[in-house]
Amino acid sequence: MNYQLVINEVYNTFKNSTDKGKIANYIPELKKVDANKFGIGLVTISGDSFGAGDYKDTFSIQSISKVFALTLALKIVGNKLWKRVGVEPSGDPFNSLVQLEFEKGIPRNPLINAGALVLCDILISKLKNPKDEFLAFVQKLGNNNNINYNLNVVASEKKYGFKNAAHVNLMKSFGNIKNNIDDVLDFYYHICSIEMSCEELSKAFLLYANRGVLPYTGEEIISLSITKRINATVQLCGLYDEAGTFSFKVGLPGKSGVGGGIVAIHPGKYCITVWSPRLNKKGNSYKGINALELFTTKTELSIF
Ligand code: DON
Repeated sequence: MNYQLVINEVYNTFKNSTDKGKIANYIPELKKVDANKFGIGLVTISGDSFGAGDYKDTFSIQSISKVFALTLALKIVGNKLWKRVGVEPSGDPFNSLVQLEFEKGIPRNPLINAGALVLCDILISKLKNPKDEFLAFVQKLGNNNNINYNLNVVASEKKYGFKNAAHVNLMKSFGNIKNNIDDVLDFYYHICSIEMSCEELSKAFLLYANRGVLPYTGEEIISLSITKRINATVQLCGLYDEAGTFSFKVGLPGKSGVGGGIVAIHPGKYCITVWSPRLNKKGNSYKGINALELFTTKTELSIF
């Protein structure tokens, strides 16, 4: 498969196409990004890297970080985690509070905001220096010590994070948050503020395409069984109330963030990330979904 050729075709198709999306504005710091940025980066499990456009520029990975938090939490507490968070698609927006009261403070899945806040609570309970250890974990997955938090984004989210605060408070009232509310929110905003490029994200996701093993060091980070569970959760919940459409169009597990990134995993083959900051009404990159759909259509490679 000539991945570079297909990436070029997809990039050229969408580069100047009309984009109906809008940049995320509820986190003021994210509004500063050039809305016309567009990059596609693919890395194979054998280490070959391909890309087009702004694929080496870093951006705010936002909710994509929830997959790293899920991985680290599962690595530490194993399947006990599922007592505090479910595995069903929510069918609701990523920041919806609606189900949380009915379901007594147990989030539908770990990839909506409520679920990720529980992951953060678990990590705070288990790690001595959660922020340092989480960052070191992501750097290890990406084989890259330059990956870092953006503290301006942290401050910006904290200032306007009324809804996330509502989630943590509600879950605390049901006993599903054990730590101090401000500590959980602070850690959550840090993990969302991580910045990476399309190329770096695709590389850091390779373990999910490679049976839980880092292809560049051979180290097993998670078991095959946990890898299966993470990929299944990403497939069903990674794009929130657009996960069905994404599966239908792209046919790969994928995770989005409001920074405009979407990373998709092809087990046994590669990871691909598209970044374009304008979001559709569901909070997912408008061009990102369309570019990935064209990519899997042209390559005729999907998990189905
Ligand atoms: O908590 C928030 O709202 C953001 N830090 C993350 C949201 C996000 O990326 C949703 N994904 N599309």
